[in-house]
Amino acid sequence: MEFSFKWHQEVGTLSSRLHSRFGGIRALLLIVLLLATLHAFLVVLGYGYGIEYEHIGVNVPLHAEDILDKCRLLEVPPGPPPDFYARERSDRFVTGTRPTLVKNATIWTGERNGLEGVVRGDILLDGGLIRKLGSFDLDPKGDDFFHIDAQGKWVTPGIVDLHSHLGVYSMPALDGTFDGNSWKGPILPWLRALDALNTHDDAFRLSASGGVTTSLVLPGSANAIGGQGVVIKLRHTESRSPTSMLLESPYEANTTEYDPRTHFRYRQMKQACGENPDRFYSNTRMDTAWAFRQAYEKARQIKVAQDDFCAKAKRGDWVGLGQYPEDLQWEALVDVLRGRVKVHTHCYETVDLDDLVRISNEFKFSIAAFHHAHETYLIPDTLKSAYGRPPAAALFATHARYKRESYRGSEFAPRILAENGIQVVMKSDHPVLDSRFLIYEAQQAFYYGLPHNVALASVTSTPAEVLGQDHRIGYVKEGYDADIVLWDSHPLALGATPQQVWIDGVPQLSPAYTLDKPDSFQHVPKVPNFDQEAKETLDYDGLPPLEPRSSYNGTVVFANVSSVFLRTTSGRRTGVSEVASQGNEPIWAVVHCGKLVCFDELVSDCVHSALHRQDEPTLIDLEGGSIAPGLTTFGSALGLGEIMSEASTQDGVAPDGLLSIAPGLAGGSGALIRAVDGLIFNTRHALVTYRSGVSSGIVAPRSGGFLTGLNTAFSTGSKHKLEHGAVIQSAGAVHVSVHPSGKPSVSTQIAALRRLLLEPISGELGFWFDKIRKGRSPLVIDVHSADVMATLISLKSEIEDKLALDRPLRFTFTGGGEAHLLAKELGQAGVGVVLTQPRPFPRSWETRRMLPGPPLSKSQIVTLMEHNVTVALGVDVPDKARNTRFDVAWAALEFGGNISRADAIALASTNVESLLGIDRANGEVELVATRGGDLLGYGKVIGVISPLRGTVDVL
Ligand SMILES: *[C@@H]1O[C@H](CO)[C@@H](O)[C@H](O)[C@H]1NC(C)=O
Ligand SMILES: *[C@@H]1O[C@H](CO)[C@@H](O)[C@H](O)[C@H]1NC(C)=O
Ligand SMILES: *[C@@H]1O[C@H](CO)[C@@H](O)[C@H](O)[C@H]1NC(C)=O
Ligand SMILES: *[C@@H]1O[C@H](CO)[C@@H](O)[C@H](O)[C@H]1NC(C)=O
Repeated sequence: MEFSFKWHQEVGTLSSRLHSRFGGIRALLLIVLLLATLHAFLVVLGYGYGIEYEHIGVNVPLHAEDILDKCRLLEVPPGPPPDFYARERSDRFVTGTRPTLVKNATIWTGERNGLEGVVRGDILLDGGLIRKLGSFDLDPKGDDFFHIDAQGKWVTPGIVDLHSHLGVYSMPALDGTFDGNSWKGPILPWLRALDALNTHDDAFRLSASGGVTTSLVLPGSANAIGGQGVVIKLRHTESRSPTSMLLESPYEANTTEYDPRTHFRYRQMKQACGENPDRFYSNTRMDTAWAFRQAYEKARQIKVAQDDFCAKAKRGDWVGLGQYPEDLQWEALVDVLRGRVKVHTHCYETVDLDDLVRISNEFKFSIAAFHHAHETYLIPDTLKSAYGRPPAAALFATHARYKRESYRGSEFAPRILAENGIQVVMKSDHPVLDSRFLIYEAQQAFYYGLPHNVALASVTSTPAEVLGQDHRIGYVKEGYDADIVLWDSHPLALGATPQQVWIDGVPQLSPAYTLDKPDSFQHVPKVPNFDQEAKETLDYDGLPPLEPRSSYNGTVVFANVSSVFLRTTSGRRTGVSEVASQGNEPIWAVVHCGKLVCFDELVSDCVHSALHRQDEPTLIDLEGGSIAPGLTTFGSALGLGEIMSEASTQDGVAPDGLLSIAPGLAGGSGALIRAVDGLIFNTRHALVTYRSGVSSGIVAPRSGGFLTGLNTAFSTGSKHKLEHGAVIQSAGAVHVSVHPSGKPSVSTQIAALRRLLLEPISGELGFWFDKIRKGRSPLVIDVHSADVMATLISLKSEIEDKLALDRPLRFTFTGGGEAHLLAKELGQAGVGVVLTQPRPFPRSWETRRMLPGPPLSKSQIVTLMEHNVTVALGVDVPDKARNTRFDVAWAALEFGGNISRADAIALASTNVESLLGIDRANGEVELVATRGGDLLGYGKVIGVISPLRGTVDVL
């Protein structure tokens, strides 16, 4: 309105001047003037703003106020509005939500860097906010609010995931769900993840059940600048729309809720450097760096033009100003240069991190976080030299070596970065890791040395701050969003599971499966000291030697042992038993030449004489730790290579026998590929696994499909194949896989299997199928779908009937995503299952009916074992093998105390081996010594007792 007033004023002044000077011809001139005015008006209509009328002496454009408004908007700082903390209810409040009073909780607030004395007390949630915190009594009028008795359990802020692809890579993965990456070029800052956010992702509910309340959903990493991310809350909304999931919409048109003139909401941008953008678009790192610089130069030019324009406009210097410079494609990147966008850069290696730090200084924008960031711990000073403030490092705990640029990833990175004053965030990259278990990443970082307060902050307050949202999420604090989690144990205790999760004050769980945890789980767990390992990691530029520090072939005496577990055989069944546990006196264990000789009290003859031997025994104090059988890993390609995305570091992929046949020279269609022929020892994967108490592995060849090949069992700690004990058993069983991948059909795969089982065939393949028919070797079938499993169970009895076999066929299923649906039938058919995803996830259509486990349901493992199915635990990728001990311990917790620790150890040792046809004499099995806690707790694996090598390896 102001503008049109000026316009008339100008015209009025002008026309009166004309009137006085030219008198008689004024009528004519007036007509000319009116025509000119009309012309100018039309031009303005056509072009929007910025038109000048110099030739007729008018120099303030139409819409000048709008333009000045735009200019003023450029100066609005990002962040919450000034009156934010006065809010009485959340903008995300769901009408009708009853207030909730959580009584008697142990509250980790996140305040004072997470070190605030833990608050014992009550929390009132109301209006979508945390309204009151402390110790108080509300008039218990009854129905006005929900009462929850926390019984002293832990409450934390909701988990904030700084790196997720929820909704843009939705589960189950189908062709139609890959919306995270555009393939249109390296620079795409104009794309928005919100435009692809699929609200039907099965994982939303699962992640929320793990305590995740907020996620930054980012585009993928195929582009140097991949587009804008969005911060969402993970609860179901009444409107069911993607927009309604936004924490704060930076796109909002409704200025009742958001007035960009008073405050500007932070935006989020995804960038990537290194292998991904190089591979997809740019070819080399040099090209990617140039793509960044070119894009930022473009944005810089627009920004400078805007600033110049606005400076002139504000002075009223409209002459020759032209149009307000802007471009919808580049506005987001211009906002980056204005400090209004949190920039998230996927970046692994020193060279890439350094590139981006230089680019940040060249164009003067700050990087909120480097994601994945595997080498950040090697170069904290480079991070500190970035423009603005040092980027945070958003990390995986132990997921590494899956590609070349993650080769130097270290479990000690979180603590080293924290020690160097860099903010540490643990993130999921969901669905790479299931964000439901993001707290597990924090637990592992804590186990490897990140202080407990920093570890909890790394998934709550720190990511909230990095997002520019710590004014409302990331803390348990009055006035903050009512996003809190009530845990069944201390959140850093292994297996911590929410009992309830509130998002905006709305409870997310109808907790049917709460677990009773031992009291000891209610305290900050005790963790080992890894100072030496962390130091060596830096000394060796990220690649410290992983071989044992020393090996003893003489007598070794372990002192202060709290329990001893051994493999035992009763009848035909091999299992694990706890053969000694500490009473009043600690146990001492004597090992000679790598063989456990005895374990007893100090006064016993055996221990006494060992300690007084001539040849000075080596004494190792386990400080209450345990001795237990080494675990056995299966399911990944561990043993067949190092960096599984690099062909030259691995055995490779075998023909599938249906679509591709082995070369004639290798045996043609009768060929059976043996994993033992492809074994690769002394990899970092294998050595890290060995150091984590997993002393053996079973591996089948990698194959493109149906026919996989012959498995083999090997020692993860051996230097090479010819070393004694390196190959535990050269072949145990034939593996096949039956999956609905489309080519060829499942029914064709079943037809092939039927023929292999029924008809005598020649060659190695025939030899092994003959053994299978005689029940002397299991047939191992990788399968997820319950429908395919059902077909396989029928096939088994069909063959048994047709051939009138006197011994039943032995089938083992690996994978097993939907096995619980046939628990009874599997139990009856005597089919065992190796679960390669110990905590289920609906990654594919075949596993969409998975059983999630607590707090949503009973666990899959428990369900299977209740039906007498022999169950074993495996992994899907090599770097997870190190965590087998935690997988086992976690599975045991889900039995709620109804499984012994010995039986839990069997899940990843004797059960895996017997199901996969590996049968070894007990005397040959390695034992693992842990210090300060047992193999299933947070003890540290410090030694391996190897009867095969005749040594005790000290790690
Ligand atoms: C809080 O819970 C703890 C643990 O269950 C219990 O010992 C204590 O008595 C409770 N306090 C109150 C005030 O209910
Ligand atoms: C804007 O938001 C307010 C407050 O939520 C609401 O009352 C109003 O209807 C909204 N206006 C539009 C146009 O959506
Ligand atoms: C034990 O190791 C030592 C030193 O390496 C070697 O000399 C000795 O022969 C070994 N003894 C046995 C029994 O292997
Ligand atoms: C499992 O095996 C036990 C012992 O043989 C038996 O008592 C029980 O009935 C079996 N359970 C099922 C569900 O088959």
